[in-house]
Amino acid sequence: RKAHPTQGGKKDEQREGVPQLAALAYQIPQRPAGLPEGGVDHAVQGLFQFLLVAAAQGKVAAQPLQLGSLLGCGALGQQGTLPQNVQLLLVAIFNVRQQSEIYIGPTSDILPGVLPGGRVVVVSDATIDRLYHPMLAPYDTVLIGLGESIKTLQTVESIYRRFIELGVDRSTFVLGIGGGIVTDVAGFAAATYMRGLDFGFVSTTLLGQVDASVGGKNGVNVDGYKNMAGTFSQPRFVICDPGMLRTLSDREFRAGLAEVVKAAIIADADLFARIEATTFDDLRSDTDLLTDAVSASIRVKADIVERDERESGDRRKLNLGHTLAHAIEKCTNRLNHGEAVAVGTALIADASVKLGVLTAEDRDRIAGVLKKLGFDLTPPVDVKRLLKEVGKDKKNEDGMLRIVVPIGIGDCDVRRMSHDEFAALFA
Ligand code: GLY
Repeated sequence: RKAHPTQGGKKDEQREGVPQLAALAYQIPQRPAGLPEGGVDHAVQGLFQFLLVAAAQGKVAAQPLQLGSLLGCGALGQQGTLPQNVQLLLVAIFNVRQQSEIYIGPTSDILPGVLPGGRVVVVSDATIDRLYHPMLAPYDTVLIGLGESIKTLQTVESIYRRFIELGVDRSTFVLGIGGGIVTDVAGFAAATYMRGLDFGFVSTTLLGQVDASVGGKNGVNVDGYKNMAGTFSQPRFVICDPGMLRTLSDREFRAGLAEVVKAAIIADADLFARIEATTFDDLRSDTDLLTDAVSASIRVKADIVERDERESGDRRKLNLGHTLAHAIEKCTNRLNHGEAVAVGTALIADASVKLGVLTAEDRDRIAGVLKKLGFDLTPPVDVKRLLKEVGKDKKNEDGMLRIVVPIGIGDCDVRRMSHDEFAALFA
């Protein structure tokens, strides 16, 4: 089996004598018969039919999305069902803005097919180096420190220095391997070094996979103000490997679930219901459930970023719960980002009931699912203090806040309001 990257959503070229799958998996839902465009020979049709039948029989959960990961990871080949003369292509599950391919599946299967041919330099951290040293070993590697406090311009500068020492030039590809902090910093360093190198990510935490590494935002904090400097630059690819999530602590894993719940509240009521019907332990241990949650969350984000990469409209919705979460993170480092998002989401759900846009029943479902996943929703500092911190947020536009309010499960709105109007919701 050989894997070949698809190129930015363009149709794959027919290579001599080898019929190839010409559809990206994310296009399948739009095709009633599940067949790709163009000249598809019988063998390929047979494969698609097999996939559709497998999906219909419930052998494949969350049908179309999982078809992509089956194709990507070669599970079909292992089952011996792949027609002999078909070359299996690596299939991106999502393609964000025709620039950024998102893969879900085993890194070892996917990475060789997506890395470009030239020189690669890795940016990662000590935890990843300890856990996955053989993956890093073939490359010159720059390791950065751990924790939110290293998301600074100083760290970026130290990466530039190492890049200079290593002779990194514009033809070098930067591979960020790690969680949200690594990908934020590596993406920023790559996007600005010599005015921008190509880069891609292996995203190793749940929070990174469902939010931070996808969508092209990168950056660092300045004087404790979150993400004050950065760029919008799409990674060429993001590999989300559910297998790599096994090494996360429960706490870190749970942090990612806050962003999964966020995505569900914003735009996917079915995902919300599926999370409600499961448990923390099931999500930890059942790779299918987890893969489904990861793909569905990425789909929400990819759809939004497709429409609004630079956050002038819909992308603001991805900040649900984040206004207060960022204030929590500024006031205390007792909570990690996901935990703060869970508290912020519960608080804004409460406020939305007060505002008259969310039913008490939906508010209870939101708080209920977060509690069931193990989040403590008690604000760790007084809400008055949080509101004061919100007032200081340097990213407020025209002196007004943009607050994302859930208006139902799977639906939300962005409201422009003054700080006083916002504070009144918590009086
Ligand atoms: N994490 C929110 C966004 O990417 O827009």
